[in-house]
Amino acid sequence: MDITIKEMQKKHLPEIMKIEEKVFTNMWNEEMFIEEIENRYAYVMMSKNQIMAYICGWMIYDQFDITNIAVLPEFQRKGYGSCLINFLISKLLNEKCYKFFLEVRESNLAAISFYKNLGFKYLGTRNSYYISPVEDAMIFAADFQNITH
Ligand SMILES: CC(C)(COP(=O)(O)OP(=O)(O)OC[C@H]1O[C@@H](n2cnc3c(N)ncnc32)[C@H](O)[C@@H]1OP(=O)(O)O)[C@@H](O)C(=O)NCCC(=O)NCCS
Repeated sequence: MDITIKEMQKKHLPEIMKIEEKVFTNMWNEEMFIEEIENRYAYVMMSKNQIMAYICGWMIYDQFDITNIAVLPEFQRKGYGSCLINFLISKLLNEKCYKFFLEVRESNLAAISFYKNLGFKYLGTRNSYYISPVEDAMIFAADFQNITH
């Protein structure tokens, strides 16, 4: 399969919104993605002209907060999510940013297993962080300073 990773652009948003609707109960809106695009760390993984997955996040001082990652259901559990997050992590390591954070719904066992598999460790809980439905967030963190990624 011919797969590429590209910077997210506004023209990708209609397709991204369809994926959001499929994979999240509390989906982001287009404005939220536009902020991510302007913020420079937003990527799509594409097979020909189809978006398979996307990721975005924020650099805050010397740390990076992964704010969203999703893989289209039919492409899940095939290594694409790992490939995309590793692409972003490698890019940040090249920019000398080694510390990564993220939040995940405590019921999202697939994502929790995904992050643990990448070396993220549980740091703590933010009570009632999510809406629709209200749920606690588990905070995960990784420090890749001494790891050759
Ligand atoms: C979480 C998500 C991004 C993972 O992407 P993916 O491409 O399916 O994951 P990968 O194929 O790279 O999986 C890598 C490893 O993560 C773990 N993993 C991934 N999905 C899993 C699942 N459904 N159940 C258990 N473990 C899982 C496994 O350890 C897997 O390795 P293995 O397949 O060799 O056992 C994807 O499931 C997704 O888009 N979910 C919906 C959106 C979402 O929840 N995003 C995260 C919000 S915090």
